[in-house]
Amino acid sequence: MGCLRQISLPSYILIINFVALTFAQPDVALYKNCTTSGTFNNDSTYGSNLKSLQFSLSSNIDESGFYHSSRGQDADTVNAVVLCRGDVELEICRSCVNEAIRNLTQDCANQREAIIFYDKCMLRYSDQSIFGIMAWGPGFEKWNIYENVSDNDWNTFTVTRRSLLLSLRDRASSGDSRLKYSTGEEQVPNYNTMYTLVQCTPDLSLGDCKSCLDACMQLIPTCCNRSIGGAVYKPTCNLRYELGTGPFYNQTVPYAVPPPPPPPPSLSGIEIFLIVASIVIFVILTVSISIYLRKRKQRNQHHKIEKNLSVHEAVDGIDSVESLQYDFATIRVATDNFSAANKLGEGGFGPVYKGRLPNGQEVAVKRLSKGSGQGEQEFKNEMSLLAQLQHRNLVKLLGFCLEGEERLLIYELLTNGSLDQILFDTINGQNLDWDGRYKIIRGVAKGLLYLHEDSRLRIIHRDLKPSNVLLSKEMDPKISDFGMAKLFLQDETQGNTMRIAGTLGYMAPEVFQGNISVKSDVYSFGVLVLEIVSGHKIHNNFENGNNTENLLSYAWRIWREGEASNLIQPTMKTSSSSIPEIMRCIHIGLLCVQENVANRPPMASVVLMLHSMSLPLPEPLRPAFFQHSSVETNMEMPLLEASNYSVNEASITELHGR
Ligand SMILES: *[C@@H]1O[C@H](CO)[C@@H](O)[C@H](O)[C@H]1NC(C)=O
Ligand SMILES: *[C@@H]1O[C@H](CO)[C@@H](O)[C@H](O)[C@H]1NC(C)=O
Ligand SMILES: *[C@@H]1O[C@H](CO)[C@@H](O)[C@H](O)[C@H]1NC(C)=O
Ligand SMILES: *[C@@H]1O[C@H](CO)[C@@H](O)[C@H](O)[C@H]1NC(C)=O
Ligand SMILES: *[C@@H]1O[C@H](CO)[C@@H](O)[C@H](O)[C@H]1NC(C)=O
Ligand SMILES: *[C@@H]1O[C@H](CO)[C@@H](O)[C@H](O)[C@H]1NC(C)=O
Repeated sequence: MGCLRQISLPSYILIINFVALTFAQPDVALYKNCTTSGTFNNDSTYGSNLKSLQFSLSSNIDESGFYHSSRGQDADTVNAVVLCRGDVELEICRSCVNEAIRNLTQDCANQREAIIFYDKCMLRYSDQSIFGIMAWGPGFEKWNIYENVSDNDWNTFTVTRRSLLLSLRDRASSGDSRLKYSTGEEQVPNYNTMYTLVQCTPDLSLGDCKSCLDACMQLIPTCCNRSIGGAVYKPTCNLRYELGTGPFYNQTVPYAVPPPPPPPPSLSGIEIFLIVASIVIFVILTVSISIYLRKRKQRNQHHKIEKNLSVHEAVDGIDSVESLQYDFATIRVATDNFSAANKLGEGGFGPVYKGRLPNGQEVAVKRLSKGSGQGEQEFKNEMSLLAQLQHRNLVKLLGFCLEGEERLLIYELLTNGSLDQILFDTINGQNLDWDGRYKIIRGVAKGLLYLHEDSRLRIIHRDLKPSNVLLSKEMDPKISDFGMAKLFLQDETQGNTMRIAGTLGYMAPEVFQGNISVKSDVYSFGVLVLEIVSGHKIHNNFENGNNTENLLSYAWRIWREGEASNLIQPTMKTSSSSIPEIMRCIHIGLLCVQENVANRPPMASVVLMLHSMSLPLPEPLRPAFFQHSSVETNMEMPLLEASNYSVNEASITELHGR
């Protein structure tokens, strides 16, 4: 159930979500009411009872998230109840309750009765008995004011909402005296998944919990009839639903009531016969339907392939494009108005920001520099193509946003940054051992192979380099910025082929003559491999007598002198068992950077070479050194014009210095 394909979801939900936004702020109370009863004096017994009770609350809550207590006698009795949302961890629960107490102590000082609701907790105290008693008020409703489901979809939407809430109501109310909580999801036709949560204070009886939730449900048609998100809160129960791309709750509940034991089998012979018979019929039906559907799908696929997919045809209908489109306002809020604090870096195509979507998902937002010159429809087509590229070694494109001149790309957020930040860092670089590096090399190779051959579209990356290799938590490499060059190279068709995307040092020489092919990516990959093995940047200078060499010429020279092991970063030489693997990678790297395009192996061969150690490798021929004279003369003009792209300024300076 928790498994969602981001890209297949409709766009509606991605638009600012009032409920989720309000709830996303942990410290902001959703609702507070302390006007229902009288006041007490500072020096009264009631006041001191309340104070002492408040002190005890947060330390006494346990994993169940529920606690109640009383202090004092007769008219001076104070009763308090705290309830944390069922999925909230104890520590967060406690800090939420502390915040609630702090707030009420100030804003509701001297009030005998008060209630405050946060997203994650509720605190209530009163001079009346409140434990075990269902209460309707004070309560409140909240809903998404920005988005309604369409009239046409309203029917299926309400049916789903109602049936989900009813089944959750029954599940939650049958919980035990520590937790009455339940969540559930269901796909709404034409929309996103609906996520729902219901909870009662567990001191209610089964029947009271049901009635309390029924009362909440009865309010939905008035508060939230067509809204894509809504919530109803009462002191003793609450419910909430949201159409979204991910749950607003944690699907792992720290303290959960074990599911009820299955009912004991007490079926008569005839019942068993009927059940078996219907299962057999069901299985036969399912199998024949799925065979039929598969046949039909195969036919359709053949049909599609025969149509020889052009860019436009590959778009699976307008729905899939819309499902990727985010609202600009949403992204502006998600990135805190593209605040400097959220800026992750500046890529070749524009700055990248960290953001948090209304559903809590963290994303990286690339704000393309203006003037990509691409029309809206072309851009959408491009996006829907890129979003179809999914591979564990590619950064996942979650969506895009288009408004006026603004073009934003929304990607999964990878927390470990990019390879260059680790590889070329004196400390982190040393911590990246050979196994980690080897995994990165092989992962990048697979990602590139997918781009070149295995995806439906043949994508040439054009700008592969360490800063475009991002690392997941598990240090798996993910290639980013693929397909970017195409977004910016629209005028190619108008014969203006001189604009070059790429980064000096990583670009194969033929690229400067406009001969871009998958083999130019192979070249960049070779440079990357040599960098990973040596820990040196391609631009680093190596002294050789009076000459200075760059990484490639240095590697080539010592390879021919039989000293290639000198290339290996010294910190990795400690484990001699990995030396054969490292040497093989140097060999492969040199094969990839060969000057003659035809001699460079395709990525499929590279992947094979990396995975079977026994496969014999050809001798590498002379690499293309990027200071190669025929290239140098061609370089300046297009590169300066290409300042929009990932041209590394340091490398330009270096070039001019020669
Ligand atoms: C209490 O919470 C409300 C709502 O979040 C807020 O407006 C108010 O400033 C808070 N009061 C204090 C004392 O923090
Ligand atoms: C109670 O004490 C607080 C400070 O401790 C003060 O601000 C408030 O005015 C007092 N209220 C009454 C009713 O005396
Ligand atoms: C507080 O709750 C009472 C009873 O439910 C209600 O009449 C009153 O309007 C509420 N006050 C506020 C400020 O919401
Ligand atoms: C949603 O529907 C309600 C009534 O059905 C209407 O009052 C509200 O303006 C609508 N909101 C939007 C954003 O269309
Ligand atoms: C809820 O919306 C539907 C569809 O627009 C409408 O037919 C129905 O009357 C609405 N119900 C209420 C209580 O507003
Ligand atoms: C969800 O809950 C589990 C168990 O308490 C916890 O380990 C995990 O970190 C939580 N995840 C999030 C996103 O809060």
